[in-house]
Amino acid sequence: MKKLLVQLDTDAQSSLFDTVVAYDGGADHVVSYPAITPENVGGLVEGAIFTRGPKDKKNTALFIGGGNLAAGEALMQAVQQRFFGKFRVSVMLDSNGANTTAAACVAWLVRDRSVAGKRAVVLGGTGPVGQRVAVMLSQAGAQVAITGRQLARTEQVCLAIRERFGYSVEAVEAPGLAERGEVICGAQIVVSTGASGVAMLSENQWQGLPGLELLADANASPPLGIAGIDMMDRATQRHGILTFGPLGFGALKLALHRECISCLFESNDMVLDAREIFERASHKVNFL
Ligand SMILES: NC(=O)c1ccc[n+]([C@@H]2O[C@H](COP(=O)([O-])OP(=O)(O)OC[C@H]3O[C@@H](n4cnc5c(N)ncnc54)[C@H](OP(=O)(O)O)[C@@H]3O)[C@@H](O)[C@H]2O)c1
Repeated sequence: MKKLLVQLDTDAQSSLFDTVVAYDGGADHVVSYPAITPENVGGLVEGAIFTRGPKDKKNTALFIGGGNLAAGEALMQAVQQRFFGKFRVSVMLDSNGANTTAAACVAWLVRDRSVAGKRAVVLGGTGPVGQRVAVMLSQAGAQVAITGRQLARTEQVCLAIRERFGYSVEAVEAPGLAERGEVICGAQIVVSTGASGVAMLSENQWQGLPGLELLADANASPPLGIAGIDMMDRATQRHGILTFGPLGFGALKLALHRECISCLFESNDMVLDAREIFERASHKVNFL
């Protein structure tokens, strides 16, 4: 029986990145549906859950992607509400790679060390990746703050995190380089998840900063979000701080994404979201 991955994308155009990784993760066939919403997903879920018998149902799985994490979360909820009894298939949420990227980044940060009780600041943390970095650092025990250019939007994101995951994340308004430099004072961990190609921090703002231990940047499009580190950094010592670049943890991100796709086909009741994907990353990083 062919392994069929149904790619439900909340954007007007489905993500080719997600399609390619779906095949690399072991799907025999990928069917992509763009512009999917909670309102129009019903028929697709029925098509997935009613077509194969109990033993074969695990060969159909759902993947939810797209650029908007809130839309992806709403879709995930709508999909699960359509499941009942044994009429369900495995489902994974990874809008904009938020779960797999954040999990790979945080798994490297917490590898061989505890971040419990430490202050972590996620710069540009209102996007999909930053939100999930905040959740996973909280899951690891850190006290997390996220920055955004507008307080109201940043607070809204923190509220959503609290409602969904129960973690209390602080919202800080930091519209420019100078404000972001101030926010990181006193932090042991800084992760930059600003939009592609946006400079979030200059080197003189973090070098020699008292107490800073770990510094990571998710942005792989030049210029880097954090000046003075290298894309390939992976626990690299710079100015006495361990630095992590986007390609340094990107290999784990891709391997994790593929592994998650593969494991969707192991049973028909797998649900992969932030917690489950971070647990997998934390395990996987020990074998790299
Ligand atoms: N390494 C990997 O494997 C990997 C995988 C996926 C994504 N990424 C990268 O991870 C980063 C985060 O991804 P994402 O999808 O979460 O990003 P995003 O939603 O495009 O942007 C994140 C945040 O950046 C802030 N921002 C936008 N323009 C800005 C500007 N001019 N100045 C300051 N802040 C600005 C916005 O926050 P406010 O409007 O609230 O200020 C936004 O919410 C991106 O750089 C992406 O390319 C890396």
